[in-house]
Amino acid sequence: MSTEKIRRLEELRQQAMLGGGEQRISAQHAKGKLTARERLDLLLDPGSFDEIGMFVQHRSSDFGLESQKYPGDGVVTGYGLIHGRRVAVYSQDFTVFGGSLSEAHAEKICRMMDHALRLGIPVIGLNDSGGARIQEGVVSLGGYADIFLRNTLASGVIPQISAILGPCAGGAVYSPAITDFVFMVRNTSYMFVTGPNVVKTVTHEEVSFEDLGGAETHATRSGVAHVAAASEAACLEGIRTLMTYLPLNNREDPPFVETKDPWDREDKELDTLVPENPNKPYDIKTVVRRVVDKESFFEVHENFAQNIVVGFARLGGRGVGIVANQPAVLAGVLDINSSVKGARFVRFCDAFNIPLVVFEDVPGFLPGTEQEWNGIIKHGAKLLYAFCEATVPRLTVITRKAYGGAYDVMNSKHIRGDMNFAWPTAEIAVMGPKGAVEIIFKKEIESSPDKEEAVERKVREFREKFATPFVAAERGYLDEIIIPRETRKKLIKALEFTHSKVDFNPKKKHGNIPL
Ligand code: HXC
Repeated sequence: MSTEKIRRLEELRQQAMLGGGEQRISAQHAKGKLTARERLDLLLDPGSFDEIGMFVQHRSSDFGLESQKYPGDGVVTGYGLIHGRRVAVYSQDFTVFGGSLSEAHAEKICRMMDHALRLGIPVIGLNDSGGARIQEGVVSLGGYADIFLRNTLASGVIPQISAILGPCAGGAVYSPAITDFVFMVRNTSYMFVTGPNVVKTVTHEEVSFEDLGGAETHATRSGVAHVAAASEAACLEGIRTLMTYLPLNNREDPPFVETKDPWDREDKELDTLVPENPNKPYDIKTVVRRVVDKESFFEVHENFAQNIVVGFARLGGRGVGIVANQPAVLAGVLDINSSVKGARFVRFCDAFNIPLVVFEDVPGFLPGTEQEWNGIIKHGAKLLYAFCEATVPRLTVITRKAYGGAYDVMNSKHIRGDMNFAWPTAEIAVMGPKGAVEIIFKKEIESSPDKEEAVERKVREFREKFATPFVAAERGYLDEIIIPRETRKKLIKALEFTHSKVDFNPKKKHGNIPL
């Protein structure tokens, strides 16, 4: 082959590497953002990236576009490795037409998604785009719809992860929204259906980009973002960490990661962690961290609906999904946001063969007009539905309160919990002792000379009889009452025991989860 031809190819490659040119790359850096290729370098194992479609160009000739062509057309696509495991990737290049999505740009993304679905490997999308390529009009909208369809068909088959690393506006937000995890970066990434100017025109509200759709907003208020990272590097490192917990597709188990943490390690601190006073809070994350393999807990949705904690961890090297009520926030009550957060996580784990481990300390559902009028009934039902339909191994540890409907919802034996443990501090009852005695002993209390003393006495009696795990254990609703320090080894053994579980739901097109 003539060296001239090789030289020409090298030149073209060089040109493609520059995207929209040095000047625009400098502008990107000046905004504190990396380029599409620099991001892929951080996301993937060194040297593992292979590009597909480097020379693809748009085919548009409107508005002078015929004279503005850039190899790759604003998105770098290909495949590479994360911790030695294959992933398909696309990374939008803001230096080319602001990363806007043309017909050809969309085709490149779709090609990677098609490969990923056929090969059974995750898709990771790095989004940094001004949205639809305005000059291409409806063709660009069609390109988005092609992506949305693939996101939906791939849902539950291969993990899909989105990083938002710049603007993401209009209908473009719906591709990340369908994916399983959305990572954002503080101060440089935005997601909204309509930007601050449109908001001002329509609702007369004045709001900044950051307040309307920045990482903080979506990680704390809307729950659209699962992780808000301090920098792009931290964001991409976070995705690499997340990948260590995920199988490549829904036919595989999550990766086994050898641990030096002994499987039978006992932790005496756990024995005294739950306060004597049942109304005193404690941090359930302390329990989780002390039980799982050292340093293995990766929290998802850390700053949203903090009354429930969800995340991945490992027990004896096996990956699990943790769902835990958080008594340190709103007493761990279930409300709309925590129910939806929990339900989505449970469904992800179930879709991808990740066993569920539930830590339960829940006083019930949150009362009030705000909750009722906004549909706590249907949203709470999502969490119930998600647990009911899950067929992965499911373990529960009741650390303290398991009251009312929330007892049923939180992976109870009745809805196919496989191993249900309780600590001796567990209180399993229809409601809290005070509420209960005020109803069932109403007349007796009202007729007693010292009402306060009567309530206290009855509460004591009620607590002794019902606010314990023993009634539930007698019925077989609990498999075992365990000493807190034994929790780790009990869970690891139970995971080992239930590992081969096969369970089915009735054949159907799909269920009708109360959306
Ligand atoms: C074509 C675009 C573009 C777009 C930006 N550019 N957005 N080109 N189509 N949508 C180009 C600019 O012309 C410019 O080109 C370069 O990208 C950088 O843009 P700047 O405006 O200089 O950058 P910045 O100041 O950082 O502002 C970024 C921005 C702004 C906030 C994204 O560009 C912007 O508001 N763009 C339009 C966003 C928009 O309304 N998109 C359509 C949304 S509707 P040069 O040559 O100067 O470098 C939509 C529907 C999707 O997306 C529906 C799916 C169902």
